[in-house]
Amino acid sequence: MPLPYDLQPLRGPRVTLDALRPDDLDDLHALQSDPDVCRYLLYEPRSRDEVTRVLERDAAATHLEKADDYLQPAIRDENGAFLGTMYLELHSVDPDRTAEIGWILAPHAQGRGYGAEAARVLLDLAFGDLALHRVYAELDPRNDASVRLCARLGMRHEGHFVEHMWLKGEWTDTGHYAILEREWHEHRNGGVNA
Ligand SMILES: CC(C)(COP(=O)(O)OP(=O)(O)OC[C@H]1O[C@@H](n2cnc3c(N)ncnc32)[C@H](O)[C@@H]1OP(=O)(O)O)[C@@H](O)C(=O)NCCC(=O)NCCS
Repeated sequence: MPLPYDLQPLRGPRVTLDALRPDDLDDLHALQSDPDVCRYLLYEPRSRDEVTRVLERDAAATHLEKADDYLQPAIRDENGAFLGTMYLELHSVDPDRTAEIGWILAPHAQGRGYGAEAARVLLDLAFGDLALHRVYAELDPRNDASVRLCARLGMRHEGHFVEHMWLKGEWTDTGHYAILEREWHEHRNGGVNA
């Protein structure tokens, strides 16, 4: 029975994904208050009070059962140091089995392959134990690092919505990327970057 699912620590070659904890506050605040990190996110840099509330909410987001349930695990390195956060939200369960994925790395952790590794761990979960059919990502097409990450994961560029939303004082486009369960298994079995 794939769902319900309760988050257990998920391990990749160098990273572990596990639930956010109260002692992540300093690292999470540094991440979510950084203007460069937030540039292409939906929210503006957050204050410590806002991050305190967000942490309380997201630390409890460990259960997947129905649409809108989500996981927001921390990404940690081999020594347990905080690298960033991943995101997986159920968009629909029956019959479509679709989820959205997202990623945020601290600046010191970027450009080292941690994002792709953490995403692979979560996609393995999505198309393995959770038996999902399709996982998608939405991003600002100007976010080159995120676009490249989608490509490395084998996600298809499915659409480009022009001036899709008014965000942070300007009309903003949205790129839509997705991968199906069978495509993920092909990608995993095939590519050197898989
Ligand atoms: C989007 C984001 C997660 C991508 O992070 P990233 O560091 O580029 O992604 P990865 O961790 O997979 O690292 C891959 C890069 O590291 C390089 N790299 C270095 N060592 C590596 C290694 N051992 N293994 C793999 N890649 C390695 C790769 O060449 C690649 O660089 P390139 O993209 O210039 O080709 C990051 O830019 C981020 O957090 N941005 C701010 C928040 C954000 O915008 N989130 C997304 C919203 S849609």
